[in-house]
Amino acid sequence: MSKFYITTAIHYVNDDPHIGHMYENVVADVIARHRRRMGDDVWFLTGADEHGQKIERAAAKEGILPIELADRVVAKHHEMWRKLDISHDDFIRTTEQRHRLGVYELIRLIQERMPDNIYLGEHAGWYCQSEETFIPDNQVRDGKDESGHPVEMTAERNFFFKLSRFTEPLLEHYRKNPNFVYPPTRMNEIVSFVEQGLKDLSISRTAITWGIPFPGYPDHVIYVWMDALTNYISALGFGSAEHARFDHDWPADIHLVGKDITRFHAVYWPAFLLAAGLPLPKQVVGHGWWLRDNQKISKSLGNVVRPYNIIDEFGADPLRYFLLREMVFGQDQNYSDEAFLARYNADLANDLGNTLSRSTKMTDTYFGGKTPPVSCPANELLRMSEQVVPEYLKAMDELAFGRALDAAWKLLVSVNSYIVNREPWKKFKETGADESLSRILWNTLEAQRIVWVMMAPFMPATTREALTRLGADPNFISRDALQWGSLPTGAPIRATDAIFPRIDAAAYIQGGAMEEKTETPEAPANAGPPIETTQAAPPDIAKVTIDQFFEIDLRVAEVRAAERVPKSKKLMKMTVFTGDEERTIVAGIATKYTPEELVGRKIVIVANLQPAKLMGIESNGMILAASLDGEPSLLSVDAGVPAGTKVK
Ligand code: MSP
Repeated sequence: MSKFYITTAIHYVNDDPHIGHMYENVVADVIARHRRRMGDDVWFLTGADEHGQKIERAAAKEGILPIELADRVVAKHHEMWRKLDISHDDFIRTTEQRHRLGVYELIRLIQERMPDNIYLGEHAGWYCQSEETFIPDNQVRDGKDESGHPVEMTAERNFFFKLSRFTEPLLEHYRKNPNFVYPPTRMNEIVSFVEQGLKDLSISRTAITWGIPFPGYPDHVIYVWMDALTNYISALGFGSAEHARFDHDWPADIHLVGKDITRFHAVYWPAFLLAAGLPLPKQVVGHGWWLRDNQKISKSLGNVVRPYNIIDEFGADPLRYFLLREMVFGQDQNYSDEAFLARYNADLANDLGNTLSRSTKMTDTYFGGKTPPVSCPANELLRMSEQVVPEYLKAMDELAFGRALDAAWKLLVSVNSYIVNREPWKKFKETGADESLSRILWNTLEAQRIVWVMMAPFMPATTREALTRLGADPNFISRDALQWGSLPTGAPIRATDAIFPRIDAAAYIQGGAMEEKTETPEAPANAGPPIETTQAAPPDIAKVTIDQFFEIDLRVAEVRAAERVPKSKKLMKMTVFTGDEERTIVAGIATKYTPEELVGRKIVIVANLQPAKLMGIESNGMILAASLDGEPSLLSVDAGVPAGTKVK
């Protein structure tokens, strides 16, 4: 059994978890679950980064202590990881005593090996509070760094770490370990950065009090990055009497972090470890960013996405699947609710869900609710499974989650065509539930069992449910479970309701279900702007006939009154005149239009839409709008066109 230690970044506590944090923990969780079932002795660490100026200022703004802020947000992190089914083994907080012991021990070792590794010096430069780091002069423009964060000129007498000494040793390490940073593009960026030569790093601050005091110098606190990076060993007991886990698990196999902080992990952290004479982590993996409208999702940019409604509505698994399916690992990806719903319907409700219902329903009817009595040791689905399982395993090893899922889908698609080609319903009519029909249906169930075992790290809860429905052991998901043949005969199956009920994507979005929840009183400052909603059709919409089109009654309407819906950032309630009557329509356009801009305007509505309730208000019809990067833009007609005119 080989040990496998994986960590995520520890997340700042001036922000509730958003989709970027969720992604990172889901990726780490998928890796951890997969390695566990492959037989590794896994230790999975995540945690919270609680010190530093950002948190000090955020707490001061609310008039509370930094630790109060941290406690509150850490509780939300725990809640989120529970909801997302994250299976971490430990959660470290940098305010814990075990962490402080680890930090002190690291500094002690660094000083012990070469006393001038750490020295007192003067430093003046542009300091970016948001990134908690000094920014080189050539990267500062109009008081901002390259990411647009404001910088301040700061001069301090600080402790310095002799980072310059480690330029060569680090380059040597990169040469010897070309996969030290993954993916390779990120390795290249790191190498070119270090090749320019490293400057010594200031590792204490006097302007801040919220941090770990520098040993022997209580007016200095330890630089937040030196503090934070040490979590990976302090959590293992490094520096304390109970260091058995450190001895067993260090070095880490994977530090999983976003590309913005790869440099801290691939340059500063290994330099600290080299200076202390400790082994370096085996690999730093830098994932890409979730974007919104092509910008990184982050609290400082004010464009956060927190798909809490999706989790509440669908459970964790569809979101977990979406995050890993949609993003090519290592690259950036734009988030939209429409993309989530399209994938949900196409991949989950249709491909996985329908195949499961179809095959279990037939089995239920033809074989009395049990897996068929005769299994099948040689057939085309078996051959396909033998082809895709190695592809899947290779992709999982390479963290190519999209490819791994593609491999599983190949088998799933084969099951579908197998059902279409073999026509079990016809066979049943012709010859009844005979041996040949038994083999056919058993094959479809067995192949799906293997598909679901491949899904297990991605959708753990649904996998257990699906395996149970198939008549398989819900806990048998190990490497052996990927081999053909273990589905029992005559075992009870469950052919019940759809495992992923189909969603009417357009109505779902129009119905405001993606609207963010009303802010909770504990978190007034932290809830982000509304997540994107538009009234666009989902991307997977099918072609319609002209007759179908004419079933939709499009009319010109005049807005007579408009007001915002209380407690909603997006919804506008309008009274519109349709030529013969006034009616109420509620639409998600309040982020773009004010009531004053709307009144008197001639718009286009779907007049014969079934009424729907939005935040308790009945809406009769839908207004038409284009969606430009999530912003609605209303369809209008010339002012002279009377209300009620048909649009076609
Ligand atoms: N506290 C530091 C990490 C210290 S690790 C010793 C930090 N915290 S963070 O909360 O800002 O970010 C935590 C992780 O989430 C980082 O790996 C970061 O890259 C990741 N993400 C934050 N926003 C992100 C996206 N929009 N998309 C994907 N991940 C991003 O940095």
